[in-house]
Amino acid sequence: MPMPESHPTSTGSQLSRRHFLSSSAVIAGALGAQILDTDCQAAPPAAATSAPAKESQPPVAAPPSHPLEPLNQTEISQAVDIVRKAKSVDEKWRFVTVTLSEPAKDVLLTFVPHTPFPRRAFVIVINRTTGQSFEAVVDLKTNKLDRFDALPAGLQPSITIDEFVECEAAVKRDPLFLAALKKRGNLDVNLIMVEPWSAGNYGTELPEDKGRRLSRALCFVRSEATDNGYARPLDGVVVVIDLNAMSVLRVEDYGVIPLPPESGNWTRQYLKDVRKDIRPLEISQNQGPSFTVDGYEVSWQKWKFRIGFSAREGLVLHNISYRDGDRERPIVGRASVCEMVVPYGDPQEKYFRKNAFDIGEYGIGMMANSLELGCDCLGHIRYFDAWMCDSRGQPVSIKNAICLHEEDVGLLWKHTDWRNNQTETRRSRRLAVSFISTVGNYEYGFFWYLYQDGTIQCEIKLTGIMNTTVLAPGEKAEFGTVVAPQLNAPFHQHLFAARLDMSVDGPENSLYEVNMVSLPRGPGNPHGNGFQAVSTLLETESQAKRSVNSGTARFWRVVNSNRKNRLGQAVGYRLLPGENSPTFVQPDAAVLRRAGFTAHNLWATPYTPAERFPAGNYPNQHPTGDGLPYWTTANRNLVNTDLVLWYVFGQNHVPRPEDWPVMPVATIGFSLKPDGFFERNPALDVPPSVTV
Ligand code: NI
Repeated sequence: MPMPESHPTSTGSQLSRRHFLSSSAVIAGALGAQILDTDCQAAPPAAATSAPAKESQPPVAAPPSHPLEPLNQTEISQAVDIVRKAKSVDEKWRFVTVTLSEPAKDVLLTFVPHTPFPRRAFVIVINRTTGQSFEAVVDLKTNKLDRFDALPAGLQPSITIDEFVECEAAVKRDPLFLAALKKRGNLDVNLIMVEPWSAGNYGTELPEDKGRRLSRALCFVRSEATDNGYARPLDGVVVVIDLNAMSVLRVEDYGVIPLPPESGNWTRQYLKDVRKDIRPLEISQNQGPSFTVDGYEVSWQKWKFRIGFSAREGLVLHNISYRDGDRERPIVGRASVCEMVVPYGDPQEKYFRKNAFDIGEYGIGMMANSLELGCDCLGHIRYFDAWMCDSRGQPVSIKNAICLHEEDVGLLWKHTDWRNNQTETRRSRRLAVSFISTVGNYEYGFFWYLYQDGTIQCEIKLTGIMNTTVLAPGEKAEFGTVVAPQLNAPFHQHLFAARLDMSVDGPENSLYEVNMVSLPRGPGNPHGNGFQAVSTLLETESQAKRSVNSGTARFWRVVNSNRKNRLGQAVGYRLLPGENSPTFVQPDAAVLRRAGFTAHNLWATPYTPAERFPAGNYPNQHPTGDGLPYWTTANRNLVNTDLVLWYVFGQNHVPRPEDWPVMPVATIGFSLKPDGFFERNPALDVPPSVTV
């Protein structure tokens, strides 16, 4: 759910609000401006890096040097100006997003460094007066609008940070809401936290809701400015807001329930007994890191890739390749976690609409933390800032939004020949590129790792504070876990989708599914021990709608049939699922009509530039859904095509008391592992560690 406000003091909150609303501001990280000591050692600018100085942003950005570089602040302002002038867009409109319109693949393939390249911005605006939204594409080279199209009626772009902030203020000054506080024992409005949840589309809207841009806000009560409000949900009060008029439509009152008795604080001033038996663990890289950075291009040992970032997806990895001898071998053209939905399992009238699309309805990049205030990384760190715009069209940056560093991860490989007493051991190292978003109560860390053995891993770290509801004294938790007296943490799920534009040794790839088959006893298997890995070519989009199956140890393999290794095998990469869970929401429930992509764990499509988001471009308040289930009805050919894989992975969260008041990290993800891509273990040439 949405909300930038999890700052530990009201001062911090107001400070960051001013930042959100200020044109030159840096969006303050959700850890709060007070927390300045961190475990990070921010690296001085390395001589090897020729990036624009990220540590202190110049007033005017250096021109981009590659077609995939995210828009800089100058380009964002330029795009806003062009739209404003061409379409008389005044201050009453909102800019939802101004982001790079990624160039066509042929532009990328033919791009020659230090030569001109096209540069376009994709812009979404809302006319707040009419409620009409528009998409625009702006040519930054010619200063012209390429297109300016009205969205079909009823489609709502994602909710902006300015709307979160303004919405909280609108709720707090509304007489109906103040009356609801009075009814509940004169609660102090200054201690209320308002969380503007997306309204979804459940077919239950009232006539007054029709055509409006809505939020259904949930509220929480702090006992003092630094208190954890999630310990005391203001259950029974749902505020419905028109985000264009920025006014309260109504306050739905489901009855007064007493607040839970206990606080649930986690910040340091409340922690009295900290353990005292921890000595420093220091990572020293006194010769500097093993990576180099050139603009947004990162090289690390044999790996190379480009960093991208958008308000919607956050971190994007482009052009991931591996140098094999004298060949630069492409593997993935573009990788991102591009959608997620969090259904909650409580069917009560006041709760059943709690289902957030944290990427499509809010923008996970927009809520990225500024890691200068706190980061979990050790060693030599290189940060990248992210630039986006606020809803007034002013460029804003999240300083140090992306973190790049190396990690030691234990054993890479080892063998002891006990007969001749030879032992070889190698330590494994990985390159981690990550960002962390605070989505109201919850934190999501998105980590991509590259390993020395050719593995690419995506790992999502889930932490933060669980969303909560109140139990009446003596009431049992039917749809959740009691985590503190009279406090319920509902059962819920985090269903993620990653989009992987594969390019295994080139764009023409095919997809196989591999299942283990236990052979029946018979003449070919007289002892019953026979089992085989059986590969099946998935030729069309319908055939490629698949689910994980631990019973057959299922995985998928993307191959380039036109390129063979020395053993005559088509070179390939394996998509290896990790933890996964199906959704337990009924298939015809409204949330799944908008999140149809959750019906399968694997989808594959031929590359089509417009197909970027598996729940469609505008899941917010969308009536029937869009995206993968609709595109794939074309049942297109997948053999020897420019293949895009969509991997859907669900974390099923049955809360534990140990997840309260702040949750230890849970992880979920998947790996891409070389499978016949190399001739042998590609990490054989990693030298032994130097022992001191
Ligand atoms: Ni959870």
